Amino acid sequence: MNYNFNQMTDRRNTNSIKYDFAVERGKPSDVLPLWVADMDFPAPQEVLDAIGQAVTHGIFGYTEVKREYFDVLHDWFYHNHHWDTREEWLIKTPGVVFAITMAIRALTSEGDRVMIQQPVYYPFQEAIKLNNRKLIVNSLVNKDNRYIIDFDDFERKIIQENVKLFLLCSPHNPVGRVWTKTELTRLGEICLKHNVIVVSDEIHCDFTYPGYQHTVFANINDDFADHSIICTAPSKSFNLAGLQISNIFIKNEMLRQKLKLEITKSGYSQLNTLGLVACKAAYEYGEPWITQLKAYLSGNLQYLRAFLEEKLPMLKLIEPEGTYLVWIDFRNLNLHRKDLEELIVHKAKLWLDSGHIFGSEGDGFERVNIACQRETLVRALNQLYQAIVS
Ligand SMILES: Cc1ncc(COP(=O)(O)O)c(C=O)c1O
Repeated sequence: MNYNFNQMTDRRNTNSIKYDFAVERGKPSDVLPLWVADMDFPAPQEVLDAIGQAVTHGIFGYTEVKREYFDVLHDWFYHNHHWDTREEWLIKTPGVVFAITMAIRALTSEGDRVMIQQPVYYPFQEAIKLNNRKLIVNSLVNKDNRYIIDFDDFERKIIQENVKLFLLCSPHNPVGRVWTKTELTRLGEICLKHNVIVVSDEIHCDFTYPGYQHTVFANINDDFADHSIICTAPSKSFNLAGLQISNIFIKNEMLRQKLKLEITKSGYSQLNTLGLVACKAAYEYGEPWITQLKAYLSGNLQYLRAFLEEKLPMLKLIEPEGTYLVWIDFRNLNLHRKDLEELIVHKAKLWLDSGHIFGSEGDGFERVNIACQRETLVRALNQLYQAIVS
């Protein structure tokens, strides 16, 4: 089947937080949204068919999954990421942020230090602070428009602060890095040496651009597998975020039991029936869809890159190696945070994610979601151009 990703689907009036909540979230009603990380494309047809079948059945009682569900997951990760998972490692949760929060609660105590690498997906810091843990930041370093890790700072802070847990974002949202095996190995060795548990958020693992290969942290060696929690989900890959399903893999039995207990304590048990149905169908049949989608998104990226180079050379693209989120440096405009917001929201009429929400390291940057029809991207870039040059 050939998918036409240029086909527009009107998402307005569907209670989409991207399209229908501008005013509620303090933006003008007519902004073009390229912020939250969902896509403007319908899920693969096989997923829609599977959900349709479940809806036709009409009974939505408590649901569990059998071995076939795991087998499909296993094949996906084996085939795409060379990772040989075991059924007993799996815990299903209604989201990755939920799993991360549960892991923080299960594996650390109030006052304990938890480390992240800002600029990073903002719920990480919220999960730490709202649970009364102390946030420790190993800032990523922007070296010639590519972000790298300051390993000395990483280890120093682990020792000085007695860090207990590290939240890794891999591939990294928003800076688009697909961490190399060498980088991950170095991080992992430091964590092992100081007994730091790694919670690795690999929700974007299926989005890498040509030439980049995602490495599952736990797949590097048995010691890393024993000290880590790997968070995956079909939600980014197949645009299923509203169905609330993620798959968390934990090889270490003790860590797994602690996480399970914390989830039980929170009162959560069975997952959303339609989420389970969609997840299985997506991993079982969705490969052609995502392969074509990735080619389309590469085209979007190419368009964006050429547009910036030609028309807005003062903006610097941080070349993404993965994810459909693009991190752009606006600092050459020399605008204060408020003035940049004014330019983007009120002049360009765009709704992007302002960089500072990912940590102070993100000041002067904007995150743009390019998982939209080319037509939308072209419109957005033209609006931006007009706002800047006029
Ligand atoms: C790195 C990262 N983790 C987690 C999430 C959200 O996951 P969930 O909706 O499963 O909580 C996102 C969504 O953008 C993300 O980018």
